[in-house]
Amino acid sequence: MEIVILDDPGAIARLAADTIAALLHEKPAAVLGLATGSSPLSLYDEVAARCARGELSLAEARGFTLDEYVGLGAEHPERYRNVIDREFTSRVDIARDAVHGPDGLAEDVPAACAAYEEAMAEAGGVDLQILGIGTDGHIGFNEPGSSLASRTRIKTLTRQTRLDNARFFGGDLDAVPTHCLTQGLGTIMAARHIVLIATGEEKARAVHELAEGAVSASWPATVLQHHPHVSVLLDDGAASHLR
Ligand code: F6R
Repeated sequence: MEIVILDDPGAIARLAADTIAALLHEKPAAVLGLATGSSPLSLYDEVAARCARGELSLAEARGFTLDEYVGLGAEHPERYRNVIDREFTSRVDIARDAVHGPDGLAEDVPAACAAYEEAMAEAGGVDLQILGIGTDGHIGFNEPGSSLASRTRIKTLTRQTRLDNARFFGGDLDAVPTHCLTQGLGTIMAARHIVLIATGEEKARAVHELAEGAVSASWPATVLQHHPHVSVLLDDGAASHLR
């Protein structure tokens, strides 16, 4: 695991965008793993700006999102399918139908999760997975107690995660879904390179556990200690509990 501490979110975004650019230079049809939430937003801005300047093209790239809320209507602005369209897909030249996400409205949830795993495998697996981290150490929506070998499945969101995400729902905790579909920890671990972005002191404890804690389902991100190629990009706040 390489840990890079940078001055501000802009520097983190530029370094992560450089990583995406290098991958696409080598492999234009690369498969990107896309996180939602606030952590990757500066990166998506940077990638969009490079595309607008003609410095980067995602025309052949494909994407798979990490997770999805269960039960949000197709047009709900916080449905992750819509969030990734708004924040990323619509702003770059990637083909709309080349970006996939778990189906949070599926009637047959186990079948939808299995189909998502199959689609990722058929695409050749994820080359570069972008991750954020929850204050409770989740990656994707693999909350504490998640199996370290898990694959895409339905999960219950913790109260802490729902409180953290209530800001996206006008501060209304009751509006935050209670369940999600998420790639499992085993799914995430299958990506060839993982870039995790964390900023702000509220992430410091989770980042400390991620990098320096014992590997345990109690802090799901610690499974990344077993991955051969993880880059953790932090600002000073998120790095402040590292020894
Ligand atoms: C989002 C996701 C989550 C977030 C995490 C951090 O697709 O899978 O793991 O990355 O909750 O969220 P932010 O970035 O909003 O602090």
